[in-house]
Amino acid sequence: MAARNGRGVPDTDEMIVVHRLFMQEYRAAVPLVRGVRPGDRARSGIVADHLDALDAMLTEHHLAEDELVWPRLAVDPAVEPALTARMEEQHERIADALGRLRSALPQWRASADPALRDTVADACAELLPALEAHLGDEEEHILPLVPGRFTVAEWAVLSERGRAVVPKAQRLYMLGALGEAAADDRRDEFLGRLPGPVRLIYRIAGRTLRWRTRARLHGTRASGGVGVPVA
Ligand SMILES: [Fe+2]
Repeated sequence: MAARNGRGVPDTDEMIVVHRLFMQEYRAAVPLVRGVRPGDRARSGIVADHLDALDAMLTEHHLAEDELVWPRLAVDPAVEPALTARMEEQHERIADALGRLRSALPQWRASADPALRDTVADACAELLPALEAHLGDEEEHILPLVPGRFTVAEWAVLSERGRAVVPKAQRLYMLGALGEAAADDRRDEFLGRLPGPVRLIYRIAGRTLRWRTRARLHGTRASGGVGVPVA
């Protein structure tokens, strides 16, 4: 993606919205998982698909940073070595928490067993503090270092890699979730990054899209809001 901010500098603001999406969705996952009734394998399958998609997205987000960002900053004499070391440690903590989640998920998906459900929900809850601390740290200390060290095209690779791993079946959900994460303060920039036709569709039907895809994930009935513009 080219610079959308029109300033010819890397679009680091996009990452802030992606970070918000991760926090929003993992926070929501805790009650979502706990709400699946014992033996309801249809629901455990839908929720497990969602968690698998988030796992793929978060893992790729961090892998891209491990490969493209930390090595560049680590050899920059103006960057404190302790900073990149801390980022790497935080990624490892998050990967450990994701590993615990991943190890319980297939069995819960297949059985909808309540003990496994609680293990999955607890693993999501345990992920949150590590994720929140890391994302905040990265936004405060890493993103300001990007302009001048990365070109627009180099930085855009991170977004492209992130988008490429969203499973096809989850793309509409994640588009709506990203729009929600953008919230009022970042909605215009979120819309500005969408290709023109997608932006038009999102303006007309984005709210309906969000209700419908959320309703499917949560097993509730979508209602109201048809055709209500988002922005
Ligand atoms: Fe990030």
